[in-house]
Amino acid sequence: MPSQTDTEPAIRFDNVEKRFGDNVVLHDLNFSVAKGDRVTLIGPSGSGKTTILRLVMTLEEANNGYIYVDGEPLTHEERGGKRVELKEKHKNEVRKRIGMVFQQFNLFPNMTVMENLIEAPVHVLKMSKADAIEKAKGLLEKVGLSDKENAHPLELSGGQQQRVAVARALAMDPEILLLDEVTSALDPEIVGEVLNILRDVAKETDITMLIVTHEMQFARDVSNRVLMFDGGKIVEESDPETMFTSPKEQRTRDFLSAVLGNN
Ligand SMILES: Nc1ncnc2c1ncn2[C@@H]1O[C@H](COP(=O)(O)OP(=O)(O)OP(=O)(O)O)[C@@H](O)[C@H]1O
Ligand SMILES: [Mg+2]
Repeated sequence: MPSQTDTEPAIRFDNVEKRFGDNVVLHDLNFSVAKGDRVTLIGPSGSGKTTILRLVMTLEEANNGYIYVDGEPLTHEERGGKRVELKEKHKNEVRKRIGMVFQQFNLFPNMTVMENLIEAPVHVLKMSKADAIEKAKGLLEKVGLSDKENAHPLELSGGQQQRVAVARALAMDPEILLLDEVTSALDPEIVGEVLNILRDVAKETDITMLIVTHEMQFARDVSNRVLMFDGGKIVEESDPETMFTSPKEQRTRDFLSAVLGNN
């Protein structure tokens, strides 16, 4: 492992291009996320926000360019001027450091809450089952679901399932946490319980977070940077206060007034 990693950003996109067929979703995208940064991605539907998170999670692969995690190439590296795909073993190693929470929870429906939480720590991190269970119990307490460890996901409310999903991501001790509209599928009255847990995670850890959300107050509370995307490009970037109160670009103003329903 290179020793300069402490000075490397947590995530770096270097001229990343992503296409689906002829549809170029990201064009030569460049940006970096420093370690410990909490970056919110905003922008209209189809602007590429989910695609960016899925690329970092290696659920998608770029068609061109490079993505680095803590200075290490994620799926491809440049070797002698050529773009070379890295081995699955390498991808798996880097992937271990990244957790993701999805809009639709994506828990394993046939497993209990406890089994969901220990699956990856035991099979991917090779943690002992006893240690994984102990850690999972601590996380379930944190998300207020100690009494649900033997329940199956479909026996839980949406808010409870999402709290399990957050605990499951944290069970891997990720360096990077990706949150893709994690409250969009929830009833309004339970959005807060999930956001409060994530506020605590932000406060109590130094996990780098990349967040897609329409919850602007949450974005203001948690993130230190906001990137506004349109058509797979960054159209504006600033601290949340500036972005949400005095955006420079007309496209940002139009987007925010549509989302916030004011102006
Ligand atoms: N698996 C896929 N196959 C084909 N096209 C896709 C796929 N995933 C995404 N796209 C396309 O990529 C573009 C960006 O989609 P993406 O899901 O990243 O947008 P988004 O900004 O997350 O939008 P939303 O706010 O609606 O979630 C869209 O044009 C979408 O149709
Ligand atoms: Mg999306």
